Amino acid sequence: MRELVINGGNPLWGEVRLQGSKNASLPILAATILTDEECIIHNCPDISDTWAAIDILKDFGIKVCRRGETVRVCSACMDGSIIRKELMQKMRSSVMFMGAVLAKRGETLICHPGGCRLGDRPIDIHIKALSELGARIEDVGECIYCELKEVKEDEIVLLYPSVGATENIMMMCAGSGKVVQIYNAAREPEIVDLQNFLNAMGADIQGAGTDIITIRGVKELHGCEYTVMPDRVVAATIACAAAVCSGDVYIKEAKEEHIRLVVQTLREVGCRICSDASGIRVVSKGDLNGINMIKTLPYPGFPTDAQPMLGAVLTRCRGVSRISETIFDNRFCYLEELGKMGADTKIQGTVAEIRGVDKLKGANVAAKDLRGGAALVVAGLAAEGITVVSGTEFIDRGYEKIETAFKEIGANITRI
Ligand code: EPZ
Repeated sequence: MRELVINGGNPLWGEVRLQGSKNASLPILAATILTDEECIIHNCPDISDTWAAIDILKDFGIKVCRRGETVRVCSACMDGSIIRKELMQKMRSSVMFMGAVLAKRGETLICHPGGCRLGDRPIDIHIKALSELGARIEDVGECIYCELKEVKEDEIVLLYPSVGATENIMMMCAGSGKVVQIYNAAREPEIVDLQNFLNAMGADIQGAGTDIITIRGVKELHGCEYTVMPDRVVAATIACAAAVCSGDVYIKEAKEEHIRLVVQTLREVGCRICSDASGIRVVSKGDLNGINMIKTLPYPGFPTDAQPMLGAVLTRCRGVSRISETIFDNRFCYLEELGKMGADTKIQGTVAEIRGVDKLKGANVAAKDLRGGAALVVAGLAAEGITVVSGTEFIDRGYEKIETAFKEIGANITRI
């Protein structure tokens, strides 16, 4: 079991460059299935989730070659359409391959993704939407068999702006030659990145970033070369670390409009944050005040993915703060671990109450999910003494060597 050892208390100074976005690169890797021509993807983060997505592509018989942050994919010789159970369980968001495989092969077999630490991960919104668009979807025990003869022109209204369901519809319909509209679409920046990638392949999709997306399907999609957007959740993680450790950090390539609510919340607690075309600067003296209530919401609301890292900041903010987690059922696991470091928190249903303490002390803590693990690292960087974070395999799903980024700005953190 590899662990991160943090000797906390250092202020953070300097400049750090963002990795490519995990949540943009995964659907883009899936979308490469839609053409027989080569797609070249730059700024693809070197994290275990993108390796899992590449394993799925290779399982389909697709040629994939990765050199650092550039991945070249050619699906001309694709001959599979089943997502193996172990790959599905390794990465639940593999469900986003459904739309692309259905469009390319006319059928797919996937296992129910099952729940995870964040709670149930149902895919009912995906299934309802793809069925309304012409897919025949059948429960066959622990798997789901899907078949698509032809996409039906339709207007789809999502009962909830599911990110994955929006992406599946876009990928299934982009090359269908049919006009499909999605109402109450997810508006996340990663959806815009997927639209830009699909349009670079010759699709005609408009409206991503708003709640109405119009797909004027084209008959043929071609290969392209594309650079994935920077990872806004990693940007939020670094900003939270700078806030709670104090210091002056410039996050290159971060875009304020991608994490506006995170930036505004950190300003409210007492950070000075300014941004320009090349990045975001976070200045903090570490003297922070709590906030009465922050609620996670679909974009452009406060992002659920940044909730754990903000929770780590709030443990060191004067007064009582509250976080309401409205997206996932069980995204407060990290608070119990922060309690081992002296944090004073309690959970009441979907609301966490966090009472600021003067200091956190180093402890042995265990990551149990990706962003909860990142929150433990943020807290360890601010704590006095040594923190050992186990469960780094969760953190490595979404962060490219998290210790390297923080070392660059003065943190005392090593991986053993
Ligand atoms: C994406 O997950 C992200 N993952 C998540 O990031 C992110 O937290 C989430 O969007 C919300 O922003 C990727 O992009 C790979 P949803 P996704 O479909 O697509 C429920 C991270 O840490 N729901 O918008 O799964 C679902 O259970 C990860 O990087 C249904 O009920 O998100 C959840 O409660 C974690 N039925 C809520 O909606 C469905 O059919 C949000 O799900 C689909 C979703």
